[in-house]
Amino acid sequence: MTLFQWGGAALLTLAFTGVLTALVSAWRQRRYRLRELQLRTQNLELQIKVLSSRQRQQCLGWDGYRKFIVEKKVDACEDIVSIYLRPHDGLPVPDFKAGQHLTFRLQIPGQTKPGIRCYSLSDAPLGNHQEGYRISVKRIPAPRGKPDVPAGLVSGFWHAGISEGNLVDVRAPKGSFHLNELSNRPVVLLAGGVGITPLLSMFRHLANTGASREVWLFYGVMNQHQVLNREELLGAVSQSSRFHLRFAFSDPTSSCQLSRHYHRKGYIEVAWIKEELNLPDQFIDVSDHRQPEFYFCGPPPMIQAIKGDLEAWGVPVEMINYEAFGPESIKQLKSRVEVTAEETKVQHTVKFRRSGRTIDWQPASGSLLEVAKANDVPLDCGCRCGDCGTCEIAIISGEVEYPDKEPRFDVHTGNCLVCIGVPKTNLVLDA
Ligand SMILES: Cc1cc2nc3c(=O)[nH]c(=O)nc-3n(C[C@H](O)[C@H](O)[C@H](O)COP(=O)(O)OP(=O)(O)OC[C@H]3O[C@@H](n4cnc5c(N)ncnc54)[C@H](O)[C@@H]3O)c2cc1C
Ligand code: FES
Repeated sequence: MTLFQWGGAALLTLAFTGVLTALVSAWRQRRYRLRELQLRTQNLELQIKVLSSRQRQQCLGWDGYRKFIVEKKVDACEDIVSIYLRPHDGLPVPDFKAGQHLTFRLQIPGQTKPGIRCYSLSDAPLGNHQEGYRISVKRIPAPRGKPDVPAGLVSGFWHAGISEGNLVDVRAPKGSFHLNELSNRPVVLLAGGVGITPLLSMFRHLANTGASREVWLFYGVMNQHQVLNREELLGAVSQSSRFHLRFAFSDPTSSCQLSRHYHRKGYIEVAWIKEELNLPDQFIDVSDHRQPEFYFCGPPPMIQAIKGDLEAWGVPVEMINYEAFGPESIKQLKSRVEVTAEETKVQHTVKFRRSGRTIDWQPASGSLLEVAKANDVPLDCGCRCGDCGTCEIAIISGEVEYPDKEPRFDVHTGNCLVCIGVPKTNLVLDA
């Protein structure tokens, strides 16, 4: 071949390679767009399904309290009873979102006021076939080293005072801590003790709906006697290789076997999760749909530790979802020591119109609920952390703000939640 021919051949090869590369890249782009389109269509279909189901379910909801009958009460594990509830009127009940809770009002003998508390729905939602609900309640003892302090009132009543056939007052399922069903990211569920209840519901729901997501449940308890509904969890895992279950026992008994009954001695830690999921040290890009989203529930130290470690790892806030059970876990409103001199000057009057009480409020006074309680103004409350809506009351004039935490309950316009709210101006409240 002459030099000219060689040159021609090289040019042809180059041109051919260029065309081939362009074709491959166009084909890749087309495939990528097609996949994008498929994902969007799937997502739209899912959105339509979820919205139409939500619309159907809204018609079945109810306002205020409804009577439910305790159909069955079973010892689910050490110190936890599961309660199965059916509506007393026999009418259908709405479905719920996995992770939501019910609010109860219980008349407890010897108590002048009813006990209002929230309990997460511990069963998987059943869609249109929802006929009743299940909750699982842990008996709360007196704090360690304080034998003079009474044990948990309402949890004790569930354990020792309530029997099958009893009636209880229940508000419709609520709560903003629930699975994002429109997401197709992997899900990591982290449960500490009785904090398993909303996560058990999520885990089983994902298994029942055959979700294509990778699902991990890390469950921390003292030992195997405190594992709630182990068989249900294992059942979900046996349905799909995408479901993974890991136990951390902080105080395993001598009969607990590592690898057989549990996978780690100690507590749940973010380092362990990274290791199990084989995730990088640097949390990658939020737009990467392989990055998991996190849901966790447990005692306050666990929530604080996990939340801090996830944030330090770079997990964006929108992928961190958690719920705390009860007032001890709430970040306290500024204590007297933390209130600055400037802030001490801020003062508003709070008038509780129906009770006829007018009180001077300062930042050190705390939430409106604290002010009301300290001045014998009777107000209902449940979770005391802005979740359940029990303490919602109407504002007649003035403004309320939430300095430490936004309500997770949808507060009606013109109303406020007194458990986490403080006055922004002088206030008149309908209480
Ligand atoms: C959204 C949400 C979901 C929840 N889901 C669940 C669930 O699924 N399962 C579950 O078991 N719980 C759940 N809880 C917690 C539940 O609502 C109750 O808070 C829990 O049952 C304790 O209530 P209690 O009336 O038994 O305790 P309380 O009587 O309120 O007592 C709480 C603690 O304070 C101590 N105490 C009582 N009196 C005093 C005093 N005078 N001085 C000092 N200490 C005192 C008690 O000994 C106890 O340790 C949930 C909470 C929320 C907010
Ligand atoms: S008591 Fe539950 S929101 Fe205030």
